[in-house]
Amino acid sequence: MNYDFSVGFWRKRAVKAALDRRDDSQTWGGHSLRKFPSDALAIQKLLCRCRPQVVVELGTQYGGSALFVSSFAAIAGINAIVSVDLDDLEKPKIPIATFITGDSGALETVAKVKALVGSRTCSVIVDANHHAEFVDKELTHYAPLVSPGQALIMEDTHVDVLNFRKFREHGGPLRSIAKYMPQHPELELTTDIEPYLTTNFFGYWVRKK
Ligand SMILES: C[S@@+](CC[C@H](N)C(=O)[O-])C[C@H]1O[C@@H](n2cnc3c(N)ncnc32)[C@H](O)[C@@H]1O
Repeated sequence: MNYDFSVGFWRKRAVKAALDRRDDSQTWGGHSLRKFPSDALAIQKLLCRCRPQVVVELGTQYGGSALFVSSFAAIAGINAIVSVDLDDLEKPKIPIATFITGDSGALETVAKVKALVGSRTCSVIVDANHHAEFVDKELTHYAPLVSPGQALIMEDTHVDVLNFRKFREHGGPLRSIAKYMPQHPELELTTDIEPYLTTNFFGYWVRKK
């Protein structure tokens, strides 16, 4: 499968303008949520469609995104959230969430996540270290955790699309996606989830049933 990961000039300009307005600095229930509102709704739409039993999130930060997922968990049939971060920052109390402090790329962390997921159906949100080399590792470890019919959401691919200086040489999440997905045709890019204003270009995938 060959994907075309190009984005038009005017759309890139619109996303850049939204970033300049800090539209990716939101709050949910009073807790920091680092997403465009349009991406938050897209994540909700996809998870409500896939109905995973467990959502694994790589990159907790202040827990606003875990709190966001927990807000519609009952409607979507989600009964657990496993969220990983290097830092142990203050987070909201979320009864269905287990927070793991650790490096999402470390085998010890991968083992903990796998044990918590067990045999339940699982969708994965990747939103930790955005350097391609690291994301490559995360895809190797966590993409196989995505069950048939479940979602793999790759955040912040805009760092490649908008050619951010920090990622110019070695690439960000989109470079990893472009490398990983052609080898994994069992993962399909969704066609009706990605919003126009997004930081997750080509970031909404589902494993074939
Ligand atoms: C963009 S923030 C996550 C934002 C959060 N998901 C949200 O939407 O509000 C990225 C987080 O990834 C964490 N992180 C960076 N490298 C990591 C690693 N190797 N393992 C686990 N977490 C990491 C950072 O500490 C940071 O809190």
